[in-house]
Amino acid sequence: MPHSLVPFLLLLAAAAAAATGAGAATPRQLFLVSQPPVTLTNHHGQLLTGNYSVNLLWYGRFTPAQRAVVADFILSLSPSGSGTASGSASGSAAPSVAAWWATTARYHPGAARLSLGRQVLDTSLSLGRRLSESSLASLASRLGPHRSTVAVVVTAPDVLVDGFCLSRCGLHASASTPSPASSGHGGRGRFAYAWVGNPAEQCPGECAWPFHQPPYGPQQPAPLVSPNADVGMDGAVITLATLLAGAVTNPYGGGFFQGPAEAPLEAVSACAGVFGAGAYPGYPGQMRVDAATGASYNAVGVAGRRFLLPAMWDPATAQCSTPLV
Ligand SMILES: *[C@@H]1O[C@H](CO)[C@@H](O)[C@H](O)[C@H]1NC(C)=O
Repeated sequence: MPHSLVPFLLLLAAAAAAATGAGAATPRQLFLVSQPPVTLTNHHGQLLTGNYSVNLLWYGRFTPAQRAVVADFILSLSPSGSGTASGSASGSAAPSVAAWWATTARYHPGAARLSLGRQVLDTSLSLGRRLSESSLASLASRLGPHRSTVAVVVTAPDVLVDGFCLSRCGLHASASTPSPASSGHGGRGRFAYAWVGNPAEQCPGECAWPFHQPPYGPQQPAPLVSPNADVGMDGAVITLATLLAGAVTNPYGGGFFQGPAEAPLEAVSACAGVFGAGAYPGYPGQMRVDAATGASYNAVGVAGRRFLLPAMWDPATAQCSTPLV
């Protein structure tokens, strides 16, 4: 089953595509390359529909505050979990995280609603400090049973994952459920999973842009201040947002994407590098800035928590749509 890899240089696409797979969130330089208009095609394969839980496996050391950034992002995806439209200290409130996720329903009216499932800690690095793609699938399979779940493995800054930083910031894919009888209504015996790395130490310029200066290419005047004061975790949220949208709209390689099935550009990865109006290569676009902290954000979630979310291709308008229009 292919996993979609979103390579960061177009020339790398062929190499990255050799892996079977899912959609991968790529380092941001990819998006410093100007792209043709985005038009995702519906390949009429299965999507994720209905209610899904996102289960998390934390591989390596994370602080409770770091885990809360990701958990709150997932909690914020459902309408009941997002903050109200009022209460912003700086005038009109930013759009909700749930409104951003609601764009997926324009791909399919039943596109999966995601809630936070269970969380597992693996602080002892049970499979070692270096992980292959098959190790990621093994870790994800520990998050079963897999009926109506997306399994997400999050790796700590000191964990080495094949391809991390070289060609990608994370990936989503599907794997066989241990027992065919437990296939649920997912994909005929397969379950969707994703991996996202914390890029704080290994490649913040690639995988935590625009909160860190890119290693090369056009430079904005200064990196943005990240909304949760954690460059690595705020970068990981951008990658996770990219992967969850891809997992729901192209879970098994036959959903919505542009380009070759082995290296698809998906709902968010097709729009990568765009976070606000007026974005261009090297500039993420306009967004809200907190007057007190200087943090940039474009969406609000549970308990007023702020996030900077990437643009998503909107089938209704055929445009990459940012939370703040
Ligand atoms: C999904 O969950 C919501 C809220 O709990 C519920 O109203 C709805 O019926 C559920 N949908 C399906 C398809 O189970």
